[in-house]
Amino acid sequence: MYNPKEITDNVFYVGVNDRTKHLFENLWPLPYGVSYNSYLITDEKTVLMDTVDVCYADVFLKKIGDVLDGRALDFLVVNHMEPDHAGSIRLLRQQYPDIRIIGNSKTFDMLKGYHGITEGLHEVKDGDTLSTGRHELQFHAAPMVHWPEVMLTYDATDRILFSADAFGSFGTLDGGVIDEEMNIEHYWDEMIRYYSNIVGKYGNPVQRALQKLGCLDIETICPLHGPVWRTCREKTVALYDRLSRYEGEAGVVIAYGSMYGHTEQMAEVIASALAENGVRNIVMHNVSKSHASVIIRDIFKYRGVIIGSPTYSNQLYPEIESLLGKIRIREVKDRLFGYFGSFTWAGAAVKRLAAFGEEMKWETVGTPAEQKQAMTPGSHDACHALGKAMADQLTIDNYTNN
Ligand code: FEO
Repeated sequence: MYNPKEITDNVFYVGVNDRTKHLFENLWPLPYGVSYNSYLITDEKTVLMDTVDVCYADVFLKKIGDVLDGRALDFLVVNHMEPDHAGSIRLLRQQYPDIRIIGNSKTFDMLKGYHGITEGLHEVKDGDTLSTGRHELQFHAAPMVHWPEVMLTYDATDRILFSADAFGSFGTLDGGVIDEEMNIEHYWDEMIRYYSNIVGKYGNPVQRALQKLGCLDIETICPLHGPVWRTCREKTVALYDRLSRYEGEAGVVIAYGSMYGHTEQMAEVIASALAENGVRNIVMHNVSKSHASVIIRDIFKYRGVIIGSPTYSNQLYPEIESLLGKIRIREVKDRLFGYFGSFTWAGAAVKRLAAFGEEMKWETVGTPAEQKQAMTPGSHDACHALGKAMADQLTIDNYTNN
């Protein structure tokens, strides 16, 4: 028998933990796993908020059955159709054939395409409401807060926001469900990694959604991944606001490729110069070792970005080229940019990094350092000057953590 966690009176957590999958979306590592959250309201009418990845349908349906304890399931609200949340809808419908599915026209197009479901639907538009007895649910369109059909559902009675992917985090729920009953320290970085890699491209839609939410009185945020936010709800919203405005904090991420260590030595000198000049948050990533999702997380996190690459077949080092592609897709804005590179007989990397900075409309800081073969006193000084220039610019812009 499942012992359900009650979020508020008659609002239960019925989600599941995934500690099996290695890669979310078959792309993003899950060192702490991931949870697929779902919530069940047992009012005069019973309402389920989203489902879970189909791999966990069995345990999920068992949890729902335990909470319902013989009652019918009246409604399913589909806030998001991505299969990590909508994957169990067909099986849920088989178990509860009379359930009415609430969504918008875009939801229903996807519901037909993924599950062949076209009947028993209840279409809502932005601002529509539904009374379930004690609870009053409001549906708010939040297009492109990951996918175009996304809705946020606000329970005006208990002041709960069911927020779809928004405010979600990687990391399973290891016993506790609500932030106030957990040690949540490791979730913050995992929330930034989730946001930057999964939702990061959609900063403007997230800003529009946050403005819409500004007029709601929210006590509890129930996202589709990670902890339920109550004590830390304001910190969570502030973090999303900052990330979706692409506002970096004081600090510098240095991402470099290096085949034989010469470009890496340049990175080390730059990092030392940053430290000597007062920068405390310095994160270095060897792109051949750090996973791109972690580098992207740190690029969203910090205001300063310094990228270094050897020249490789008259191009950028392939892993650097791949990283630049991921930054480009996410349209990361407003970074201080420094760059450096090395070559053996003909340099191409520095020129290509310059073009990338221009394309991103990032503010170039300092003079790019370029090194032929091994380090010389000249290339050492150029790297040192680049690090110092970045530190100085952070100070001028008032980015002092120090
Ligand atoms: Fe967690 Fe966009 O799905």
